[in-house]
Amino acid sequence: MRSFMGRDILSLKGFEREEYYRVFEIADRLAPIARDRRNTDLLKHKTLVTAFYQPSTRTRLATEAAMHRLGGHVVGFSDAKMTRAGDFYQESIKDTVHMLEFYGDVIAMRHFQQGAPAEAAKWASVPVINCGDGWGEHPTQVLTDMYTVLKEKGTLDGLNFLLVGDMRMRTMHSISYAMSQFDIRPTYISPPDMSLTDDFKLELDAINLNYREVEHIDEAIAEADVIYMEPVVQPDYTKSLDERSGEVGVTAANYQVTNKLMRKAKSDAMILHSLPRMDELLEEVDNTRHARYWTEAFNGVVMRMALLALVLGAVE
Ligand code: CP
Repeated sequence: MRSFMGRDILSLKGFEREEYYRVFEIADRLAPIARDRRNTDLLKHKTLVTAFYQPSTRTRLATEAAMHRLGGHVVGFSDAKMTRAGDFYQESIKDTVHMLEFYGDVIAMRHFQQGAPAEAAKWASVPVINCGDGWGEHPTQVLTDMYTVLKEKGTLDGLNFLLVGDMRMRTMHSISYAMSQFDIRPTYISPPDMSLTDDFKLELDAINLNYREVEHIDEAIAEADVIYMEPVVQPDYTKSLDERSGEVGVTAANYQVTNKLMRKAKSDAMILHSLPRMDELLEEVDNTRHARYWTEAFNGVVMRMALLALVLGAVE
């Protein structure tokens, strides 16, 4: 297995089964710290730099919270417009990263351009963690999701995943790579204009993912063990900021999870949604035995603790 020390976490493509279990093992080890709401001193001599060029609630704050739980320090920006990358200068990623690498020991980056964290990693002497790049990937979110499934189901093999929403989403790309490492049977459901692209289908074939596509969530709900959701009403992820202007669309029943739908599901089917949500996941579902998205939120901190500890060499 490749070492995690000093490693960039840019993509789940090529991330191997045993590497998932290594990350999950460290997450298990560190979880009690977060559960007990304690801070430790494991990373007391380390600093995290957060470089967020696109809005975030969960990913940035969970990563920063993880660093605090491990006793480390945090510097960074969450509004690139207030940096030289976002003003008149439009400073390049290369020049920006040549600065940031001296301000800390690991860089967590979210960017509206697909591939921007990989570009940063080319120039940084410290590890770069991709916290979401355009429509590209969202590896730390999906590691969180897979960990949540493992903790809830006790296994990642022999499961049916029902993936609902916009298949252009970065989470959908990362989870597709992740599913290929386990005995998982995926079913994808999306509006036609948000379906798996031909190029991505070629990638899925290349990694031997045995999937199917259906038109309506009703067709696959009964056999689903995990329902993995993304909105179909959402912003343009290639923009640094896509503010709402006027009315937004509504989600068609094909792509919506409601209590009525969940009555057709297995009693132990679990729903994951990385959030934020629109009207594709009704709040009435929150208090059912199926909802696991708040557990995901807690695990999001634990997963970032594990990744920071691993790439900074605190647990090898
Ligand atoms: N799930 C997720 O990436 O949320 P944020 O955009 O709030 O970070």
